[in-house]
Amino acid sequence: NEQPKSIIVIFGATGDLAKRKLYPSLFRLFQKGSISEQFAVVGIGRREWSDETLRSQVKESIQTEISGDHTNLDEFCNQFYYKPFNVTSQHSYTELKEMLHTLDKRHQIGGNRVFYMAMAPEFFGTIAQYLKSEGVTETEGWTRLVIEKPFGHDLASAKKLNDEIREAFSEDEIYRIDHYLGKEMVQNIQVIRFANAVFEPLWNNQHIANIQVTSSERLGVEDRGGYYENSGALRDMVQNHMMQMVTLLAMEPPLRLSTEEIRSEKIKVLRALRPIADQQVQESFIRAQYGQGVYDGETVQGYLKEKNVSPDSQTETFVAGKLLIDNYRWAGVPFYIRTGKRMAAKSTKIVIEFKPQPHNLYHDKIEKNGSNLLVIHIQPDEGMTLMLNGKKIGTTGDTSSVNLNYSQHGIDGINTPEAYERLLFDCMIGDATNFAHWDEVNLSWAYIDAISEAWDEDQSNLPSYPSGSMGPREANELLEQDEFHWWPIE
Ligand code: BG6
Repeated sequence: NEQPKSIIVIFGATGDLAKRKLYPSLFRLFQKGSISEQFAVVGIGRREWSDETLRSQVKESIQTEISGDHTNLDEFCNQFYYKPFNVTSQHSYTELKEMLHTLDKRHQIGGNRVFYMAMAPEFFGTIAQYLKSEGVTETEGWTRLVIEKPFGHDLASAKKLNDEIREAFSEDEIYRIDHYLGKEMVQNIQVIRFANAVFEPLWNNQHIANIQVTSSERLGVEDRGGYYENSGALRDMVQNHMMQMVTLLAMEPPLRLSTEEIRSEKIKVLRALRPIADQQVQESFIRAQYGQGVYDGETVQGYLKEKNVSPDSQTETFVAGKLLIDNYRWAGVPFYIRTGKRMAAKSTKIVIEFKPQPHNLYHDKIEKNGSNLLVIHIQPDEGMTLMLNGKKIGTTGDTSSVNLNYSQHGIDGINTPEAYERLLFDCMIGDATNFAHWDEVNLSWAYIDAISEAWDEDQSNLPSYPSGSMGPREANELLEQDEFHWWPIE
């Protein structure tokens, strides 16, 4: 396969995402030879940096983020260029056009360009429009726009943003990032489902009792209080990452493994989601905020004491919800989701709970919690566990649970590529499968808006949960009312 070559223009080159994720991921791709040596990165920011400042920042970020082999780091860094930029000034774009033209010739890139938006979202639309009007997107190669979250704040703003970028780029040139789609085990969901004859025949409401998706974090909001106050867990995690995992678990087998077929099946799931009518929001979606708590013997403060957080903030840092999918396969099967900051563990897991047999000969012998479960470990462990029942060794006829486990620690195991590494590469080869199509973003915002609107009107106080716990009591009650419970995820 030909190694893709491109100029990568990063808006937000001095920012955190660029330093922590983009530079290290590009370096790994470069080191592995996945991308062509004919590449250049143009870092764009407001600050008056020189090429040299950017290069030394890139070098530092790689030395911090990647342990081990740094061969060819200088050579890599020398292909970085910096451009101080004012995103609202036409002049900046005419200069950029010239610069890209020169670099294109110098590195023989053939006119391919990735424009990566990794900065404050209010400028995404403006930048895209200027890129077009000033001819920066006119080249003999391809041009692609990569756009980071948040993609809008609600459906109306997402639509506005989409209309703006669509004036400059066509849908198939737009790569909306959801970094969960770049995770090894999120990509594995469809392989587990569609490459195993033992699962897919059971993957429906005849055999599955419920599905539970948990993504918990130990960290609090850190220094992102300003952003988070306007977002909350619903917009920050549910609208994108959690909904994406649900669609991958629920989608029908695509006709073939093409971008279009896969995304079209995912879109159908979102279309089948039962809309949340106002009065049901309280019953099916729980929000809460972390209070003080103890981690490893140390007391940590609650959300209201965090930097840039209003002392009477009603922002949720935890969401648990029940989604219903009204189609033939899933009628009657709840999909429970749960996510939050400052919880007991940093962990993302999916539990598929199978229904009990219609007639269980061992009903009085089976250990408590003898349900068959398939657990998909997304992170930090990567793998799966199938929980079965077997005979207890000895003279009794009792059963005991047997766990078939295949997993490795994401960090200690073979070095699986970072989500951003895959996604950058996919973009450069023109594969948009693991990026969100506009229809997905549109439908998931419509679903989320109904929840946030109901919450905005609800004056009752937000429940709180102690830092270091798995969330508030209400999240347990959500399942108990259906006679289920959250399976432990540690
Ligand atoms: C981001 C959210 O999209 O995902 C963060 O903005 C969150 O608030 C992060 O911490 C979680 O990602 P991961 O890959 O660590 O599970």
